[in-house]
Amino acid sequence: MKKIGVFTSGGDAPGMNAAIRAVVRTGIYYGVEVVGILRGYHGMIEGESIKMELRSVSNLLKSGGTILKTSRCKEFKTPEGRQKAADYLHSQGIDGLVAIGGNGTLTGLLEFRKHYKGKVIALPGTIDNDLYGTDYTIGYHTAVETALEVIDKIKDTAGSHERVFIVEVMGAHAGFIAMDAGIGGGAEEILIPEINTDLTASIIQIIEGWRKGKTSSIIVVAEGCSEGGAYQILEKAKQLDLTRHLGMSELDIRVVVIGHIQRGGTPVFFDRVLASKLGTYAVEKLIEGCDNAMAGELNHQCALTPIEDTVYKKKPIDPFALKVAKILAI
Ligand code: F6P
Repeated sequence: MKKIGVFTSGGDAPGMNAAIRAVVRTGIYYGVEVVGILRGYHGMIEGESIKMELRSVSNLLKSGGTILKTSRCKEFKTPEGRQKAADYLHSQGIDGLVAIGGNGTLTGLLEFRKHYKGKVIALPGTIDNDLYGTDYTIGYHTAVETALEVIDKIKDTAGSHERVFIVEVMGAHAGFIAMDAGIGGGAEEILIPEINTDLTASIIQIIEGWRKGKTSSIIVVAEGCSEGGAYQILEKAKQLDLTRHLGMSELDIRVVVIGHIQRGGTPVFFDRVLASKLGTYAVEKLIEGCDNAMAGELNHQCALTPIEDTVYKKKPIDPFALKVAKILAI
C-alpha cells in the first residue's frame, strides 16, 4: 500500500473530521501517502484531490462538518460515472480507499468494486446509527445530545403552557435517534419506523397520562415513522379527535422539527474517540491487505464487517430500550 485516498460522502456527521485526522496521521505514521478527495464521489469523478500532510489535520478534533466537503452524487449512480471515478483513482496511483459515510455511501461502494481495482475500507460516518456491524456510528452521540438539548428546552415551555409537543428527529429509515433522545428526554411516546405506529393507541396513552396528573407531554417521532413526520401525525391526531370521544377537553398540540442542527456542532467525546480509533484501525487493516469491509466497534472492540452485510443486514433496535421507554412513560 503506497497511497491512500480518504473521502467523506452523504450527510455530514460530527466526528468526520476526527476520522480524517486519524486516517491521515496513521497513514503518514506507517509511511503511506494520503490524499483527501474532495466532495465525496463527486470529487472522484471530477478529479479533485489534495495531498494531506500531518499539519493539514491540526486542530480538527473539535470541529463539526467535514473539511473534505461532502455531497450526494447522482452521476456516481451510473456505471459511466463510477468508471470515471475509478479511472481517476487509478491514474493517481491510489491503491487504497477509506470511505467515510453512511448507508448510501456504503451502498455506492458495493457497485464501485466492479470498477475500482484498489482496496476499500469504510468508516461508519452518519448520525443515523443505522449500520449493521458497529454498535455506534460516528456522529450519532452528538446528534442525540443535540436532540436532547432541544427536547429539554421544549419540556420547559410544554410544562408552562400545559401542551403536547410532537418533536420530529432525523434518522432516515431508522429510529435510533428517536429512541435514545426519547428515553433520555423522558418522552411520553416514541414513534419509530421499526415498530408499526398505532396512533390511536399512542394518543389514548397520552390522554391516560393526563388523567393520571400529567400536564404536558412529549411525543418524539422519527422522520421515517410509518405514520409520517410530525406534521402528518398532528393532522391525523386531529382527525381522530380522541379527546372529544373520551369526554376530555381538547389538548393543545404543537410541532417542532429539529432538522439539520442535529448534523452540526462540536462532536462529543464519544464521537471523537470512536472516529480516532476507527480511522487508525481502518488504515492498519488496509495496510494488512484487508478489503471490502467496514471498520466498526462491537462490544468495545474494533471489528471488520463485510460492506455487503452492513448494507443488507438490519441493525435491530434494542427491545429492552422499547420496554424501558414504555414503562417509564406512565
Ligand atoms: O443520513 C443523515 C441524514 O441527516 C438523515 O437523518 C436525513 O434523513 C438525511 O440525512 C437528510 O439529508 P439532506 O441533508 O440531504 O436533506
